[in-house]
Amino acid sequence: MANTSTGTQGYRVDEANILQKPLGIEIPLVANGNSSLYGILIQNLVVDIVYETSERIHVKIYDKEQNQVVVPNSPLGMIRPDIQSRGGGGGGRRKKGNTNYYGFNYTSNPFSFQVTRKSDGVVLFDTADFPLVFEDQYLEISTHLPANGTNIYGVGEVLAPFKRTRNVTTLFTRDAHDMYRNMYGAQTFYMDIRNDNGAAHGVFLLNAHGMDIVTTEDRITYKAIGGILDFYFFVPQDAKPNSVVQAYTSLVGKPMMPAHWMLGYQNSRYNYTSIAHVQHVVEMYEKNNIPLEVQWIDIDYMDGRKDFTFDAVNFPREKTVAFSNSLHEQGKRFVVMVDPAIAVDSSYQAYVRGQESNVFVKSVDGSEYQGQVWPGYTAFPDWWHPNITNYWQREIMEWMEVLKLDGIWIDMNEPASFCLGSCGSLNDSFSVKPKAEPWQNTREEQVRLHALQELALNALGQPPGETRNLLYPNYVINNGAGNLSEKTVAMTAQHYGNISHYDVHNLYGHAKGYITRQALLAYNSSTRPFLLSRATFAGSGSNMGHWTGDIMSSWEDMKGTIADIFNFQMYGISYSGADICGFVGDATENLCTRWMQLGSFYPFARMHNGDASIDQEPYVWESTAEASRKALKVRYALLPYFYTLFEESNRLGTGVWRPLVFEYPQYASVFAYNDEQIMLGSDILISPVLVDLAVTVEAQFPPGIWYDWYTHDVLRTNSSVEENFIVTLDAPLTHVPVHIRGGAVIVTKVPELLVDKTYATPYNIIVALDENRQAFGRLYIDDGYSIQPVNKSSINFIFTGNTLTVNGQFNYRNTECIGNITILSDQNITYSSATLGDKKVAMVLNGTTTATLVTGGTVFLDKGFSIHFS
Ligand code: GLC
Repeated sequence: MANTSTGTQGYRVDEANILQKPLGIEIPLVANGNSSLYGILIQNLVVDIVYETSERIHVKIYDKEQNQVVVPNSPLGMIRPDIQSRGGGGGGRRKKGNTNYYGFNYTSNPFSFQVTRKSDGVVLFDTADFPLVFEDQYLEISTHLPANGTNIYGVGEVLAPFKRTRNVTTLFTRDAHDMYRNMYGAQTFYMDIRNDNGAAHGVFLLNAHGMDIVTTEDRITYKAIGGILDFYFFVPQDAKPNSVVQAYTSLVGKPMMPAHWMLGYQNSRYNYTSIAHVQHVVEMYEKNNIPLEVQWIDIDYMDGRKDFTFDAVNFPREKTVAFSNSLHEQGKRFVVMVDPAIAVDSSYQAYVRGQESNVFVKSVDGSEYQGQVWPGYTAFPDWWHPNITNYWQREIMEWMEVLKLDGIWIDMNEPASFCLGSCGSLNDSFSVKPKAEPWQNTREEQVRLHALQELALNALGQPPGETRNLLYPNYVINNGAGNLSEKTVAMTAQHYGNISHYDVHNLYGHAKGYITRQALLAYNSSTRPFLLSRATFAGSGSNMGHWTGDIMSSWEDMKGTIADIFNFQMYGISYSGADICGFVGDATENLCTRWMQLGSFYPFARMHNGDASIDQEPYVWESTAEASRKALKVRYALLPYFYTLFEESNRLGTGVWRPLVFEYPQYASVFAYNDEQIMLGSDILISPVLVDLAVTVEAQFPPGIWYDWYTHDVLRTNSSVEENFIVTLDAPLTHVPVHIRGGAVIVTKVPELLVDKTYATPYNIIVALDENRQAFGRLYIDDGYSIQPVNKSSINFIFTGNTLTVNGQFNYRNTECIGNITILSDQNITYSSATLGDKKVAMVLNGTTTATLVTGGTVFLDKGFSIHFS
């Protein structure tokens, strides 16, 4: 494509003023012409290239005058490119003289740039021949994709197959109902895995403005309505997908570390009608022997859906507090919803205090901006206001204390609003009277009101000095809600420091998460806070977990959760899950049974249901109850394994859930067909049933030995023919296939109904031998809740030459002991005994290929040791 074809002439390098820097180069650009596409052309740009680490190059194209609004790095620590110079996650620290794994080239006129990978000379990002457009409200840049195709994963949030084939992904946070358009999160990171050699790299555009990212056969095009083109490229030495995720999270922040209990199974629904109803649900779990670690309550507990209040009739304060206490007595946990929008009501203290500290978002004329959310008219906390931390801390800390909460659920933080503009503040001036909830007005009234609201919004005009058209930018992104200000806060609304909502919309939920986490830490600075958020941005995973919002109770959406959760692993939000059995519509027994089997392995495993849906708790149907008990037993047995994966995720950034392609990028067959099975880390493969009435699953098994979790039967695929990876597995209704990779040592517990009780059992070790009769595994232990645990153990299990060697750090010594060690092999096991210290102990043979050493809790994980098998 010619550079001039879209009406822009691009930029040329101002050669005389190029600045060579010790770790980069600064290239000034001058526009070649005056014509513009959608906004005001910016004549002078600077391309600032910094070789930040050996695996990360930063290419920032910005306006010389620096008038464009960039992603604010405040509140401090909210967005983390300030840690640019930090390496990590695969040894990326840049030292002078170190090799960079990437190369950078550019052309002068028109300016274009290329990022290459040194090891194979492959061009990773190449903007040549495509327009570079840099206007105040429209930025466009494209990269070529290789002629033989490639595999793109990421950018969202959107419900789509994991391998991206969609044309347009729109990034504009939205309270979504049609999820195939833009939805709750704004994530601009993608990974590209090349067809030729499975080599991976990552690309991140740090820009919080609304944008479309258009992927076609031969290119990716970014079209943003503001900000700058602030790119980071991640090119790790080994070009492995997991290393790319590590490199990305080294920039935006590593995922938070969950406490033990957060890994337990959780239950929620919208429309539990009373505290007695919730109590009954908890009892039913107990009665049906289904684990329940955390009970949630949605907005139902609130008085008129106002945060920090109790419904006096159905959720009276004393009874709700007593419920919380009784949950804690049973060893369970309690989490409730706290929406961002605060009801406009002068007798409501949270509102009065917010007004007193002046922390609400304003309209252009300086008045309080009043939208409409669950409680009716609402004000929106301004997370950029200097008083917000004190205000929000007070509200959150008091509420945590009143209800003795274990965590907070934050929702509607895209932010969602049901009317257009500051509808609440104009209430009286309308000829049609709006009701507190838009749907209480007739359809005709709604249409009339919307027109009046639009007039009022337009009449306010732009903030003083604003030259851009914030309400109606010329380039129209593919926002599912239509105009940008629909169903959210108006683009002209004002945040502290003359920041227009237009410039921080995609950051609102992320900012609420950051401030809320600070409030939880102020409440309790020693234990890990629990926070679940619907809206996210790059780096949100350091503060909170995420669930995928209001999905349907459908087979399609159940399957879609796999890709969505994979994506969030890649974005550094490893504590992610989806509403098990779906939110909108009614689940069926078969669907819920299969979904419980899948959801039992979600990193964050919670059932949640919509207000109008039939009950779907796992005890409602017999097959669901049975399947849930079985699948959750596997989850609870695997708790030490999950926890170790979360520790790695927190330290390195790797995902807890991984698509096969992240573990086996060398096999082309897993490039596309990869969102139907899940790897937990590198060693456990889940092959769920995703189709109604199916009793078998077509599953892929990369070459090697795989052991059935339940029977220990051996499965082996042919390494030379990739089609042979596909195996048909039996999966009757209450069974979910789970396999252990040969070569892994998996550390398990005896599953109980609570996480703590499970953790109190001895460790049982599964040594799953590979074809060389070797296996390796790691176990991380700490107290399970401290932010800075004092004593930690990081223990390696190495099986080779008939000996299991256990070494590492053993600082957590709370009588951690081994119950038994089971060895799995694809060959006949000849071991009949093992030497434990100076004692020979007989092995128990279970069939021919499995043998168990019962130590009866006599072997402690307080120091290194080895056990010889003979
Ligand atoms: C939103 C949330 C959903 C919640 C509901 C009521 O739709 O996504 O999870 O149940 O609001 O609070």
